[in-house]
Amino acid sequence: MKKIVFAAIAFCVMTVSAQSQTSAKKILVAYFTMPESGGVDAVAGASRLVIGGKVSGNVEFVANCIQKATGGDMFAIGTIQTYPGEHQPLLEAAQHEQKTNARPRLAAHITGLQNYDTIFIGYPIWWYDMPMPLYSFFDEYNFAGKRIISFIVHGGGGVFDTVEKIIALEPEAAVSKESFVVSRNNVARCERDVTAWLRGLGMVR
Ligand SMILES: Cc1cc2nc3c(=O)[nH]c(=O)nc-3n(C[C@H](O)[C@H](O)[C@H](O)COP(=O)(O)O)c2cc1C
Repeated sequence: MKKIVFAAIAFCVMTVSAQSQTSAKKILVAYFTMPESGGVDAVAGASRLVIGGKVSGNVEFVANCIQKATGGDMFAIGTIQTYPGEHQPLLEAAQHEQKTNARPRLAAHITGLQNYDTIFIGYPIWWYDMPMPLYSFFDEYNFAGKRIISFIVHGGGGVFDTVEKIIALEPEAAVSKESFVVSRNNVARCERDVTAWLRGLGMVR
């Protein structure tokens, strides 16, 4: 009898520990960024950051802050085609994509999506909307059952209805409306705000 009780307890312990191992889900920080080669430091109000000689996109900068605070994995949403580095041609290319409802082909794909339960998704506002590669991204993945939290950089115009669009594109995901939103003029000094926001969401490791 004792043996049976002991075996039953051992089985329960093994089952619980196996479950806790498989349920150790992770955070992914996915982002799209397009620093302009013709820009200057965003502190001066343009569209890229230069910190310690390293050029970084504004969204990329916020993605790095989130990664540092949460310990999540990083995923850059890149496209196979390249975008013009200069401001005016980039504006035109992005507008053309939007007008034609394009779905630019993505250069990389998330591996092990099932291992993530929270996906941070970062993007700049392009022509009052998400850049079209974000639509390719949401077409590619079904984030059902996952928590989606967005972080958004704009040039002064705000986020428009992009979070509502994500909700419509991913109806089975739990899309948070508590996005982190920052104007590019304030990106270089936003790390503290990012950490405070993450703390409020219970996401700081
Ligand atoms: C093609 C394009 C369109 C843009 N459209 C808008 C816009 O409609 N509203 C706005 O506030 N900012 C707009 N911006 C500004 C960007 O949102 C801003 O520069 C952002 O920081 C870019 O992020 P990144 O450096 O990570 O690519 C636009 C920028 C580009 C390049």
